[in-house]
Amino acid sequence: MILEPLKTLKQGNQIYLDHNATTPVAEVVAHKVNEWLKQWGNASSIHQSGRGPKTLIRDARRALSEMFDCQALEIVFTGGGSEANNLVLKGLYEHLVKTHQLTERPRMITSQVEHPSVLKTMEFMASKGVDVVTIPVCRYGKINLEQLEQALKEKPTSLVSVMFANNETGSLFPIQKITELAHQYGALMHSDMVQALGKIPFSLKELNVDFASFSAHKFYALKGIGALYCKKGSQLTPLIHGGAQERGRRAGTENTLAIAAFGEMARHKDEVASRAASITELRDHLEKEILARISDVEVTGAGVDRLANSLSLLIPGVDGETLLMNLDMKGFSVSTGAACSSGSPEPSPVLIAMGLSREEAQSSLRLGLGWGTTREEVDLFIEQLVVTVKRLRSFQHGMKANG
Ligand SMILES: Cc1ncc(COP(=O)(O)O)c(C=O)c1O
Repeated sequence: MILEPLKTLKQGNQIYLDHNATTPVAEVVAHKVNEWLKQWGNASSIHQSGRGPKTLIRDARRALSEMFDCQALEIVFTGGGSEANNLVLKGLYEHLVKTHQLTERPRMITSQVEHPSVLKTMEFMASKGVDVVTIPVCRYGKINLEQLEQALKEKPTSLVSVMFANNETGSLFPIQKITELAHQYGALMHSDMVQALGKIPFSLKELNVDFASFSAHKFYALKGIGALYCKKGSQLTPLIHGGAQERGRRAGTENTLAIAAFGEMARHKDEVASRAASITELRDHLEKEILARISDVEVTGAGVDRLANSLSLLIPGVDGETLLMNLDMKGFSVSTGAACSSGSPEPSPVLIAMGLSREEAQSSLRLGLGWGTTREEVDLFIEQLVVTVKRLRSFQHGMKANG
């Protein structure tokens, strides 16, 4: 069988345009799963059955470290991006307490538009007595760097945690600059890079962050596996105590299969980079056509650097959930905001933080293109979106006119 390495598995006839929620599994991963399954031994076993799994884990760690530009032992495998975010925030705090490094109330700084696995953990840290400072963003999603510096100046800070790319708007944050600022004032720097992986090239060495979180299911591999990069010398108290796996930083028998799949994707880093770059043209075509054919549409986060695959739209006069369901019935998978908060009657906290009104935030649509997305799919989607928005707007207009 000749493999086109990064071709992805299709799900029925559905046209999937929600790649920031999750990605399909790459064929190269699906093809190797049976092989990896044969390595069912425990990687900690000394006898023969442990050797295969141990090698798979070692090779995956090495491939990921080459892609991230870090050392293999700086990577700690976790149960996903949420766990990696929890591990760094809670683990650093516990470590500082345990080693009596806190002379006063510890401070942690984050942004208003982080993923809930950072924001909710920060809420938890605040309940433990941490002084959590949340830096606002502007209407375009840009973080206020002056306010960040002011917060750093005010009081010694243990950690700054700012994401690399936003999961809803795709906005990119100047991580290198934020890291420099954090370090200048003696704080450690963590970045949630879950949405950046596979979409933009980066070097952890150049960015110089102390910690970074990753998730494999946003990277065409499997769910329930992720990683936390911990710069050499950095120390955290583990979340999960037990065996000595991951050098004592995350106990529990390793998920060999999922780790191998994660590493496999990193092995294709050059093709990943070229696929990611080629998406820009398709997204720009999608954006241009929508703006030209549907009146009053606004691109959320336009004017700032964005992920090439992402498009977040405000479509006034249309309820986002209704639009989503209508498009779903026509065979298109899109979302109104982050998948983890969909189904909630509340509008997206990210859009509210960007200064959108509730009504505006409820008229939003999030599109995320992937490596498998074709021009034909995008054109079919545009046609259907134009017709559906027109129908929903005239329906809404009729309802208003009638009372
Ligand atoms: C920016 C960001 N961080 C963290 C996560 C959580 O990752 P996981 O689903 O692997 O827990 C997500 C997933 O939606 C995300 O988009």
